[in-house]
Amino acid sequence: MTTTPTRTAPHPHLSPRPGHDPWHRADVLSMRQYGREDLQDLFHHTDTIRASTTARTRLAGRVLVSAFYQSSTRTRLAHEAAMLRMGGTCTGFADAGVTRAGDFFGESPEDIARMLGGYGDVVVVRHPQTGAPGRFASTAGVPVINAGDGWGEHPTQAMTDLYTMRRFRGGLDGATIVLTGDLRMRTMRSVLLALRHYDCRLLLFPGPGMTPDPVLIDEVSAGAARVERAASLAAAVRDADFVYMEPVVQPDYTVGRSAAPAHKPATPDAFRVDRALLENHAGPHLRVLHSLPRQDELCTDLDDTSFNGYWAEARNGVPVRMALLDLMLGA
Ligand code: CP
Repeated sequence: MTTTPTRTAPHPHLSPRPGHDPWHRADVLSMRQYGREDLQDLFHHTDTIRASTTARTRLAGRVLVSAFYQSSTRTRLAHEAAMLRMGGTCTGFADAGVTRAGDFFGESPEDIARMLGGYGDVVVVRHPQTGAPGRFASTAGVPVINAGDGWGEHPTQAMTDLYTMRRFRGGLDGATIVLTGDLRMRTMRSVLLALRHYDCRLLLFPGPGMTPDPVLIDEVSAGAARVERAASLAAAVRDADFVYMEPVVQPDYTVGRSAAPAHKPATPDAFRVDRALLENHAGPHLRVLHSLPRQDELCTDLDDTSFNGYWAEARNGVPVRMALLDLMLGA
């Protein structure tokens, strides 16, 4: 096993404070920007913000701009709620069709970013094209947060997911985590890159044709985590602390908005997680995480059980982003 660096080099676009600070005035584009201690700093700061009654005005006067070219229930609203709860304000768009990106002009990400960087202090971008947040960052002049780019990454989701695991278990070293569903997804890519810093066992059970990029697996395996293949969900959950799952039935992440088809295929039984599976095969401490939205792979009969970690995960998206925005923009 090779040694994992505890701190990564700053992203080349960034202008960090003297000494290593991957957060202040920095873009958040990829989990590759962060080492283990960077993540620990974020999680500690999240705990501090949660407990504080005076932190809630620290971002007064700051403006967050949302630029969402793809639909979202959680990510946009959690960023905006986080900024509002820190005393700042928000503006932006949740549908590029109302901007000049979505009309005759097809205005470029670079030109739109120049405008938005003049209107706010941080820009949060979701886009169907992998790498689009980096294009925003090249001209915005203010920090840009990648809120999900095509099949690329979703770093603030991974921050939320690891924070949630840490709160449930007290730490990630020694954990066994089952990862199932479409392991090519941007959430999975970011989570795998984050988990590589921890001495944990990762049991992969991908949907058909949904194995992660082998280059990514090599990168994760070169870190502290051990990557293995699971034979079935029933076998994998036996010693697991977490099931981290995503849908098998997926929309096309390279388009802006996918209408629900009249008939969606059902998730194969082998990739469905339900109460019977966990009650028969898992320990009582196991928690299920899912970035949501779910399809039939995550059965609603788990909602009222102790296995449900996904509502807490979704709620944790706000305090983690409060801490992140404070580290990025605070005094
Ligand atoms: N977790 C997540 O990315 O959800 P949304 O697509 O609703 O933002």
